[in-house]
Amino acid sequence: MKLYDVAVVGATGLVGRKIIQVLEERNFPVGSLRLYASEKSLGKEIFFQNRLVKVELLSPKDFHAHEFVFFAAGAKVSKEFAPIAAKAGAIVIDNSSAFRMEKNIPLVVPEVNPLALLHHNNIIANPNCSTIQMVVALKPLHDKYKIKRIVITTFQSVAGAGQKGIDQLDDELQSIPVRYKKFPHRIAHNILPQVDDFVFDGYTKEEHKMVNETKKIMGDAMIQVSVTCTRVPVYLGHSESVNVEFKKKIDVDEARNILRKEKGIIVVDEPEGNYYPIALMCHDKDEVFVGRIRKDETVKSGLNMWIVADNVRKGAATNAVQIAEELIKV
Ligand SMILES: NC(=O)c1ccc[n+]([C@@H]2O[C@H](COP(=O)([O-])OP(=O)(O)OC[C@H]3O[C@@H](n4cnc5c(N)ncnc54)[C@H](OP(=O)(O)O)[C@@H]3O)[C@@H](O)[C@H]2O)c1
Repeated sequence: MKLYDVAVVGATGLVGRKIIQVLEERNFPVGSLRLYASEKSLGKEIFFQNRLVKVELLSPKDFHAHEFVFFAAGAKVSKEFAPIAAKAGAIVIDNSSAFRMEKNIPLVVPEVNPLALLHHNNIIANPNCSTIQMVVALKPLHDKYKIKRIVITTFQSVAGAGQKGIDQLDDELQSIPVRYKKFPHRIAHNILPQVDDFVFDGYTKEEHKMVNETKKIMGDAMIQVSVTCTRVPVYLGHSESVNVEFKKKIDVDEARNILRKEKGIIVVDEPEGNYYPIALMCHDKDEVFVGRIRKDETVKSGLNMWIVADNVRKGAATNAVQIAEELIKV
């Protein structure tokens, strides 16, 4: 079996650490593993396959040695270093928003649009975490009933803002001085109707990402998408209330069965037993959890549903490793 020389940029962060864990768990054929982060992490070591790997400082010259480079250090680092790695021949899988909407860069969720991987110029973008879990759940329904419009409200965990988001919630819950102010307000015991910065039209960048990325991944620019993103004091796992209107007539039981058959989806939908997806259920799971599936009686053909997933795992690390797995399939 061929082994690949792999690197993780942002190896000490939430997503980077999870990529290292997922590479090991899924037995990705790693020959050598190099780990990069900022100066702050120099001297750190991270376990991979029963050995300690040193964290190194990122430098452009390193990229000549790699076949796959996972970027998880933010858009600024990706914009500077990903083109260097790609030019040196590595396949870059980028978790940031840097390249997602670029025309010649595939934006891929393997369960949804794996064929987009057929054409790339060595950079592949991993979508936004909130978008990934939603399109995994909606694609099988789109194939059958054709989606006309989606209205979404997200309930996003603090892990979505990286380690410092977790630290802010931790500090506020312990009533100690906050080390990092990652959110514009207190997040403990609160809900913020803001994820990322606001833009010209009163929406946030996160909301725009969900609109644009959904259309690109689903390959259908006609789908209408309306989004409100919120940040909630939950450590891990994004939840989403999703209302979908279809062009064709839906049947709720049939829709539920379609989702049940999909690899990568777990339907948890037994309201009589108070059994539905919750954030705590999805921790360290690769699947997307779907429940509260019910007819929207206000339109001719519509559904309401509740979609939950581990945003660091399927929303980032697992999806990135799955992309690499697709690329090495013979
Ligand atoms: N968290 C999520 O749920 C999620 C989901 C999807 C996508 N993403 C994306 O994934 C990326 C990483 O997010 P995260 O949540 O893992 O953030 P994080 O916990 O804050 O980790 C950031 C990582 O980037 C490294 N880094 C920062 N500046 C650097 C520099 N100049 N050179 C090299 N490394 C640098 C940090 O290293 P040090 O520790 O040395 O500072 C750390 O390893 C972001 O683009 C984010 O948008 C995150």
